[in-house]
Amino acid sequence: MAQTSPSPRRPVHVTVTGAAGQVGYALVFRIASGQLLGPNTPVVLRMLDIEPALPALEGVAMELQDSAFPLLSDMVVTADAETAFDGAGWALLVGAMPRREGMERGDLLAANGGIFGPQGRAIAARAASDVRVLVVGNPCNTNCLIARSNAPDIPAERWFAMTRLDENRARAQLAKRAGVPVSQVTNMAIWGNHSATQYPDAFNARIGGRPVPEVIGDQDWLRGEFISIVQKRGAAIIAARKLSSAGSAAAAVIDSVNAIEGGTVAGDWTSLAVVSHGEYGVPEGLQFGFPVASDGATWTVVPGIEHDARARALLKVTTDELLQEQSLVRELITA
Ligand code: NAD
Ligand code: LMR
Repeated sequence: MAQTSPSPRRPVHVTVTGAAGQVGYALVFRIASGQLLGPNTPVVLRMLDIEPALPALEGVAMELQDSAFPLLSDMVVTADAETAFDGAGWALLVGAMPRREGMERGDLLAANGGIFGPQGRAIAARAASDVRVLVVGNPCNTNCLIARSNAPDIPAERWFAMTRLDENRARAQLAKRAGVPVSQVTNMAIWGNHSATQYPDAFNARIGGRPVPEVIGDQDWLRGEFISIVQKRGAAIIAARKLSSAGSAAAAVIDSVNAIEGGTVAGDWTSLAVVSHGEYGVPEGLQFGFPVASDGATWTVVPGIEHDARARALLKVTTDELLQEQSLVRELITA
């Protein structure tokens, strides 16, 4: 009897902005190799950068071609946002200036905020009807809010800003302190802004299923040095490399999309900045880092997590910073 082979899956169009930059360079090879959407999903990589970066981006495209990735069905290299987002199922908004030593990420709002309104509108005009968007370019929470507000017809639940890198940093620090593999560390949430005010909550995290404070037994370290290391890790990378994180950022993009698309493990969660509907008293509409559980189709902010008075004070600091960022870009927010 003749064998029928399964019909090939239709490729998903994945847009990467700032694809000629360092995060872009670390990311596109992982997408093309199937790590973003899995080993059965072909991808069309749609790579956007500004006009002067196009020669370098053509070089990246040549390298992708030379990698002969079986899942890479096609590539688009462009400086035109509408072309870049045409038919996109995922839009990964990386393109933006990184901070340099001595800057905070919020200092980039003036330089980068203006990128995200037009990109939001281009996504609304041209992306697939089920597009999902992950904003990486800093300050990513507020840039995401700007883009989202410029695309009011795309449900707010399809917009994410990246706090997963902070979660991965926190899990690595806890694993090192406890002397266990990082896979043992679960339920690690980053609350609030992807900035030095973020609250990495070790008190609700677990190591090997047990509460972190019970395993680590040093509450002063968990309340002090641990939080500070995670909050300042981006700056420490910049001080060491003279460039901001790239490989770990690309890894966190892959982890974020895998968690959204593939779902989170029952009882665990991932860190994502999502639209607030008032959960935990966070003002509605902020793009706020929460613990998020996903079943692959829909996601929810994990309810019922308890915070003591110290944690609540930290949550207020990061909330106030996001409100301040929002007020600084009021004219870029349209809905
Ligand atoms: P980079 O300077 O190496 O690359 C940025 C790229 O974006 C450049 O190629 C640039 O030409 C391009 N670009 C600028 N304006 C653009 C526009 N309007 N449209 C399309 N492309 C544009 O920077 P990088 O190190 O790759 O970092 C990129 C961004 O990601 C920075 O804002 C950085 O702070 C941020 N970042 C965020 C996280 C996170 O955890 N959220 C982690 C790492 C980096
Ligand atoms: C990071 O956390 O490494 C990035 O957001 C880059 C930065 O400016 O810290």
